[in-house]
Amino acid sequence: MEIVVKENYEALSNYVAQCIQEQIKDKPSSVIGLATGSTPVGTYKELVEAYKRKEVDFSKISTINLDEYIGLSNDHPQSYHVFMQEQLFNHVNIEEQNTHIPNGVATNLEEECQRYEQVIDTIGPVDLQILGIGVNGHIGFNEPGSSFTGKTSIVPLTESTIEANARFFDTMEEVPREAVTMGIQSILKSKKIILLASGESKAPVIEQLLSGEVTEALPASVLHQHEDVTIVVDPLAYQLVNK
Ligand code: PGA
Repeated sequence: MEIVVKENYEALSNYVAQCIQEQIKDKPSSVIGLATGSTPVGTYKELVEAYKRKEVDFSKISTINLDEYIGLSNDHPQSYHVFMQEQLFNHVNIEEQNTHIPNGVATNLEEECQRYEQVIDTIGPVDLQILGIGVNGHIGFNEPGSSFTGKTSIVPLTESTIEANARFFDTMEEVPREAVTMGIQSILKSKKIILLASGESKAPVIEQLLSGEVTEALPASVLHQHEDVTIVVDPLAYQLVNK
């Protein structure tokens, strides 16, 4: 596991965007695994700027997103479908049919999970997977206690995740309680993984992650078992390491 400490959020975002651009330059038909949440927003902004400067061509790439809330239609402002359109897809030359996000309003959600796992196996493996990390150590919506051998599935969200998400909704009742998420095993199929963490709220979980213990109580700790993982942090997220 490689650790990269960048001087601030902007530098972190720029670094991760550069990694994605290099991946696409090396292999124009790359499959990129995408994450939502606030942390990758700066990375997507950098990618859009690079596209405007004609430094990157998304026309042949495919993308696979980690997760989607259950019960939010694909045009709900807080759905991850809309998030990805607003942050990236609407601003670059990516083909809509090459973008993949679980359907959180599928009539049969079990079937949707199986379909999504097939998408991962058919167009994958993911060449480069971008991950955020929850304050409780989740990756995707694989909350503490999730099996390391899990595939795409329907998962309940923990209270801590529901509370962290509440800021995006008008009332607590509207905050989704469940999601469809790629499983930990699905994530580990990726050839290369970059996990981003920024800000002091992530300092305790980054300290725990870098302690090296591998436990289902900290889902991100499974990344120690993958051969190509880079953790990119800013000093605020890194502040408790080696203290
Ligand atoms: P955040 O979410 O980037 O909004 O902190 C990360 C996550 O929960 O995976």
